[in-house]
Amino acid sequence: MASKPWGGRFGEKTDRRVEQFTESISFDRRLFEHDIRASIAHAEMLAHVGLITHDECQQIVRGLSDIRAEIEADQFEFVLEREDVHMHVEAALIDRLGDVGRKLHTARSRNDQVATDVKLWVRDGLDRIGARLTDLQRALVDAAERHREVILPGYTHLQRAQPVLAPHYFLAYVEKFARDRDRLTDTRRRLNVLPLGAAALAGTTLPIDRDHVAKALGFEGVAANSMDVSSDRDFALESVFDLTMIAEHLSGWAEEWVLWSTQEFSFLALPDAICTGSSIMPQKKNPDVLELIRGRTARVIGALNTLLVLIKGLPLAYNRDLQEDKEPIFDAFDTVEACLELAAVVVAGATLRADRIAERLDEGFLDATTLMEYLISQGVPQRSAHEVIGHLVSLCEQKGCRRLVDLPDDDFAKAHPNLGPGVKSVLGVANAVKAFRSHGSTAPDQVEKQLAAWKTRLLPSSGS
Ligand code: ARG
Repeated sequence: MASKPWGGRFGEKTDRRVEQFTESISFDRRLFEHDIRASIAHAEMLAHVGLITHDECQQIVRGLSDIRAEIEADQFEFVLEREDVHMHVEAALIDRLGDVGRKLHTARSRNDQVATDVKLWVRDGLDRIGARLTDLQRALVDAAERHREVILPGYTHLQRAQPVLAPHYFLAYVEKFARDRDRLTDTRRRLNVLPLGAAALAGTTLPIDRDHVAKALGFEGVAANSMDVSSDRDFALESVFDLTMIAEHLSGWAEEWVLWSTQEFSFLALPDAICTGSSIMPQKKNPDVLELIRGRTARVIGALNTLLVLIKGLPLAYNRDLQEDKEPIFDAFDTVEACLELAAVVVAGATLRADRIAERLDEGFLDATTLMEYLISQGVPQRSAHEVIGHLVSLCEQKGCRRLVDLPDDDFAKAHPNLGPGVKSVLGVANAVKAFRSHGSTAPDQVEKQLAAWKTRLLPSSGS
């Protein structure tokens, strides 16, 4: 086995326990494709500026491609002595090419190398998550269409509040996931400057061309300060925050649908294929996927927390602590990607139980606020109108009638002279929904507009 790349300075073999403690190959092997991609761009730049010959470059590129194929085919040997993915790839290249392989690390350090690899990995991850968000949004828009005619009780404090159209409800989540996707785009733009060329922390005396590498790797520019590069993991934290926000949105939604699929709510039917049963209670059908989406949010928050605590108090520039960034990054991406995929499956399979929902729409005085606004529109001050309708609701409860419309005309007239027979036009959930008009409200024409706009934005070709 080849000695360490730092062997020249050292008189002793590394203690096995130290090798075990410091290794990262067990998890950073996931970066191999990005490591090789970056090394090829680096080698091509070295040839471009004359630090290696074109023939040497060709040998290196071929060697790296062969190593990639070996790793992909699971024929590559990973060993503890070679510590991390960067040393594995380089050592394998040297095994093949000898001195030519020993030139690859010219004007480069593992510090700018690892920053570059992780950035490339995270950038790919952001693109994957963006595509998953779009898939989920499409499933939600589709659900909005399928339930166009359904009216839902809208809640605040989990108490019945005002009626809303089901598409309005589904599109609320489409908006949240749109902000999530914007955040990814924003993060990607800030991330997209090349670390490589910063070398260890101070740059290099050699005549490298960083723009050449940036172009080859799809970066928009080169990072301006080598010390910053060596220590910067902002892009990782920002990305994992973006993922946490997605997980938070998914978690709230999952909680809501766990409730909705209970006997008590009976709002939602989930197909058997996405539920699980009980090993003891034969009648059970449980929404485990939703519960696990809610539960896995804890892991993502944990990953963000790990990263925040990890970089807190690190002096410039690279510190080995930064090696600990990878597992939380990988885990956050894996977790959120899987949750998004399954969320889309659940949304596509779920059906609102329109009949059960409709049966109970008259409970909870969902039209009370509309009736109040009916008075306001006739010039009654809001505070007074609120009080009048509050009294009517209380009267309903005393008299045991479920709906405001069940009160005799007399009670309305006594409550306020403006509450004539016209009240019938705004009472009842269906009338209440139709009465909405403000921009962004649940008014039927507003909801139609939202739905049409999202359908256009989410057309398979638009990719917005
Ligand atoms: N495995 C290391 C990491 O992930 C690579 C960089 C090591 N750099 C060093 N100077 N020891 O951070």
